[in-house]
Amino acid sequence: MRILLTGTNGQLGNALLSHLPEAAKIYAPTRAEMDLGKAAEIRQCIQQFRPDLIINPAAYTAVDLAEKEIEQAQAINATAPAIMAEEACKLGAGLIHYSTDYVYAGDKQDKDGDWQAYVESDATAPLNVYGQTKLAGEQAIIVSGCRHLILRTSWVYSLHGKNFFLTMLKLAREREQLRIVNDQWGTPNAAAWLARASGDIVGQLLQNGNKTDWWSTLGGIYHLSASGKTSWFEFASAIVRLADQQGKLGKPSPEMLGIPASEYPTPARRPHNSLLSTQKLQAAFGLVIPDWQTCLQATMDTVPPCTNQQTQAQGQTN
Ligand SMILES: NC(=O)c1ccc[n+]([C@@H]2O[C@H](COP(=O)([O-])OP(=O)(O)OC[C@H]3O[C@@H](n4cnc5c(N)ncnc54)[C@H](OP(=O)(O)O)[C@@H]3O)[C@@H](O)[C@H]2O)c1
Repeated sequence: MRILLTGTNGQLGNALLSHLPEAAKIYAPTRAEMDLGKAAEIRQCIQQFRPDLIINPAAYTAVDLAEKEIEQAQAINATAPAIMAEEACKLGAGLIHYSTDYVYAGDKQDKDGDWQAYVESDATAPLNVYGQTKLAGEQAIIVSGCRHLILRTSWVYSLHGKNFFLTMLKLAREREQLRIVNDQWGTPNAAAWLARASGDIVGQLLQNGNKTDWWSTLGGIYHLSASGKTSWFEFASAIVRLADQQGKLGKPSPEMLGIPASEYPTPARRPHNSLLSTQKLQAAFGLVIPDWQTCLQATMDTVPPCTNQQTQAQGQTN
C-alpha cells in the first residue's frame, strides 16, 4: 500500500511516521515539496506518487491567528483537503483526514446542566474561524464522494511542536504561580496515542485488502479521543504534579490557580465543552481507549530531566 502522509513536521504527523504499518510505502512530502496553500503542488504530488491512501494531519492550527488570517486558514483547512479528496476520487484512493472538537459549539448539556459528550451526528456550530474552516474541509471531503475517514480529535499534545503540555512545563519551570482556565472541559490527547490508534485502523484496512466494501461499511466521521473528562486547570495541575514527582521541574511547583475563561480573553472564542464520545469508533474498529491520565504519564516518562536549557514551547493552539 502506498501512503502519502502530510504534516510530518507537526505533532500528529510526526508521531504517525513511527506508527503506520511497516508494509506500507510512505511518502511524506515536506512543505517545500508540497505547500498546502498551492493547489497545483498538491495535485502534482498526488498524481506523481499515486497513493492508495492519503493521510492528512496537516492543518492551519493557530486558532487565535486564524481570526485574522482567514484566507490562509481556509486554504489549508478547507481548500487543501478538498483538492486531496478530488484527487483521491480520481485514483480510487482513500483519505484519512483529521478534524476537531471545535466544529461544535461546546454547549451540549443534559437536563441537569451537566456537560454531555458530543456524538458524531450532533449538529455542528463552530465558534471560531479555525473551527469553521475545519468544518468546511470535512464537508468538502464528504461531498467529493471519495473513500474517507474523518477523525475528530481534541486537545492534542506531544513533546514536539507547540502545545499546552509543553507550555505548562515551561511556565512551571519559570513561574511561582500559574492561572489556568477551569471552566472549559475536554479530554487531552497525546499525539503518540492518536498515531497508534490511527496505525491500528490503517492496519485493519491493509488486512482487509483496502477493499471498496471496507470503505463503504466503515467510511465516515468518527471521534478519536482518549477517555475521561478534565479542565485545562486540572490538566495543567496533573502535568505539574507529575513533572514534580519525576524531578523534571528543577524548582518547587508553582501555585496553581483556576480562573474562568472570561478572565483570559483570547481573539478566538473557545468551546466550554469539548467532550467527544468514542462509542462509534470502538464499535467499528474495536479499539481499546486509554484514559487521558495514562497517556499523560506515558508522555511525561519520555520528558528528559530538567536542565538549564528550557523546553521550547510557545502557547496553546487548539
Ligand atoms: N493541536 C490540537 O490541539 C488539535 C486539536 C483538535 C484537532 N486537531 C487536529 O489534529 C490534526 C493534527 O494537529 P497537530 O496538533 O498535529 O498540528 P500541528 O502540530 O500544528 O501540525 C500541523 C502541520 O501542518 C503543516 N502545515 C501547515 N500549513 C502547511 C502548508 N501550507 N503546507 C504544508 N504543510 C503545512 C505544518 O507544517 P509546518 O510545521 O511546516 O508549519 C505542520 O507539519 C489537525 O488536523 C488539527 O486540526 C488538533
